[in-house]
Amino acid sequence: MSSGSTKTANEPVLGAFRITGGRSFYEAQSVEIIDQLVLPHTVRWETVDTIAGAFDAIKTMKIRGAPAIASLAALGIAAELLALLNNRASPSFSPETLSSPAATLLAALLDRTAYLLTSRPTAVNLREALTRIEGAAREEAARQGATAESLARKVVDVAVGVWVEDKERCERIGNNGARWILEKLEREGTIEQGEKISVLTVCNTGSLATSGYGTAIGVITSLHLQCRLEHAYFAQTGPYQQGARLTAVEMASLGAPNTMICDTAIGALLGEKKVHLFVAGADRIAANGDTANKISTYQISLLAHHPHPYSPNRPVPVLVAAPLTTLDLTMASGREIEIEQRPSWEACTVRGRVEPAKEGEEVDVQTVLITPPGTTAWNPAFDVTPASLIEGIVTEVGVAEKGDAHEYDLRRFVEEAT
Ligand code: MRU
Repeated sequence: MSSGSTKTANEPVLGAFRITGGRSFYEAQSVEIIDQLVLPHTVRWETVDTIAGAFDAIKTMKIRGAPAIASLAALGIAAELLALLNNRASPSFSPETLSSPAATLLAALLDRTAYLLTSRPTAVNLREALTRIEGAAREEAARQGATAESLARKVVDVAVGVWVEDKERCERIGNNGARWILEKLEREGTIEQGEKISVLTVCNTGSLATSGYGTAIGVITSLHLQCRLEHAYFAQTGPYQQGARLTAVEMASLGAPNTMICDTAIGALLGEKKVHLFVAGADRIAANGDTANKISTYQISLLAHHPHPYSPNRPVPVLVAAPLTTLDLTMASGREIEIEQRPSWEACTVRGRVEPAKEGEEVDVQTVLITPPGTTAWNPAFDVTPASLIEGIVTEVGVAEKGDAHEYDLRRFVEEAT
């Protein structure tokens, strides 16, 4: 990974990725990502053109968010295979690989996909993307007449497809979710036809966490673009502050009316302000609808279900917004989901700077200790919200709801919808 250009943070942030140095990824043979570790203080673009660069960016959280992680891993593979095909140095694949049997390149590729898979454990989209790439490579290697070159070309196309597909489907998720909640609230008489609604969300699920538009923030974006958004509330999302550092930037660039809520104030918010929907993203959804998402999603869902007795809200519907690639039908329930433990120091520190950055200023972002030295924190990055608290799961192909037995049948939903 090499360092790229810097620009000020108040210019609109369009997404986690951009292509420069060519009109397409194929021409540029690399991708640039926003270093999310220094947001919102500055927007620093970094070039990723290797598998190790992609791994490092995911592991250190320069990029995060389930779909964005999958896209970057795929693009890291594509970049190195394009380098190989164009006789440029590729750290993972030696030049001789191209003249070797397809099986030799396949073996080297499988070694690299196994490595990428260890970068972060909870988001299933990464595994799904890598499995898809491996499947395409295996199929090509088994084809009569396949060569290392044909295998490399096939894998590049599949890997770039992971990223392109994510960009396309997010808008559909957003629109499906917006339609679902508006129709539901109008049908139930909670709102008048055409009335605006207020929405609560957590973490960051927008264009910085996906390849564009976002999932839960995609729903908010769609409502905003239809002039149906009264207000967006977003949780600060400690300890990593994805809400404060990232969603705040996206809300500003979207121009949506918004307010940040401290995680400790969610109960008070739902007790005092009208909130029509809690919408969250997902890192992994088990076959029964149990959903792993950013830590605190479970407790917000519980509060949404049981608002304060004096609250203006009846139970607030909880909607999970995610692409089909986030469904893990191999897992019967959320009990099986591996929850990533983040290091203690991340919970004992905040990253920031004392003064806001000036236009065009190069900034260094400091990590500041907020606990006595030696304090240790238990720091799970995700929790599992039980399906019983989730009213709908919106995907690019529609919204899954519970059946008569008050249970999700996501296997059937996928079969019928695809
Ligand atoms: O640890 P992070 O920042 O990668 O966690 C991100 C989340 O939990 C998101 O809500 C989830 O990945 C969905 S992103 C569209």
